[in-house]
Amino acid sequence: MPDYQDILVTGPDSGVMTITLNRPQARNALCNNLLRELADTLDATIGNDKVRAVVITGGEKVFAAGADIKEMAELDAVGVMNDIRPTYWRRIAQYPKPVIAAVNGFALGGGCELMMHCDIVIAGDNARFGQPEINLGIIPGAGGTQRLLRTVGKSMAMQLVLSGEFINAEQAREFGLVSEVTIPEMSYPRALTLAKTIASKPPIAVRLAKESLLKAYETTLETGLNLERKAFTLLAATEDRNEGIAAFMEKRQPHFQGK
Ligand code: HXC
Repeated sequence: MPDYQDILVTGPDSGVMTITLNRPQARNALCNNLLRELADTLDATIGNDKVRAVVITGGEKVFAAGADIKEMAELDAVGVMNDIRPTYWRRIAQYPKPVIAAVNGFALGGGCELMMHCDIVIAGDNARFGQPEINLGIIPGAGGTQRLLRTVGKSMAMQLVLSGEFINAEQAREFGLVSEVTIPEMSYPRALTLAKTIASKPPIAVRLAKESLLKAYETTLETGLNLERKAFTLLAATEDRNEGIAAFMEKRQPHFQGK
């Protein structure tokens, strides 16, 4: 692994790589370098069979306090227009393997948006979520207005983005932003266990399931159903499908190889 400055990378262990955001002095604010390291790390594992799922965490105290406001302050409109950051976000969004976020403490602004790039979110009960950009005279810029509305619905999305108010972990679970709430010390272990479970499943099916589910965000039901059917058909050509069905018939555990 390259020597990273703003993230820690561990694993893969049982198919799971963990990325820890590591700028505690700045509440894990997502500076350009951190985002670049994150996108590079994910991209580097796309062809690596040993990485079948990823956990992203900020540790036990804070997930991420948003974009690095000090860096942002240096950009005028042309600077923002030419900013490389959207390319990092696109690479993170297009990562084909499952990503689970383990969130403790603040997930604000770009931090909340990073969390929404993840496929599953496990939150500690000390987690706080918000899009406080409005207090800086800006709006969410990494998909927050779009992903939040599609996830929590219009009224709560409007409330968060227009008021800058935060919600807690239980509220976030109620609104579908997170799937489970744990005590803070357990959010990462639970995310890791879940990631290992997913990593033990047939990887091609996992990949196509993620792609099909994400399509539901952005397409009509008919187009989504067509994509699902094509993915379902494609899976009939995989060895893992034969193995899964054979293992069921033979009453044994399947051994999936990603073929
Ligand atoms: C840069 C940040 C930062 C940020 C905190 N720090 N958040 N630096 N960018 N987003 C720095 C502080 O300047 C301070 O540095 C140190 O981290 C500790 O911060 P405190 O405020 O003293 O900590 P605390 O009292 O624990 O409060 C934590 C906090 C607060 C509630 C998270 O820091 C906060 O409100 N941060 C800003 C949250 C925000 O507005 N996020 C949206 C950003 S805009 P020093 O050097 O003084 O010790 C955004 C746009 C996204 O995300 C667009 C697309 C990416």
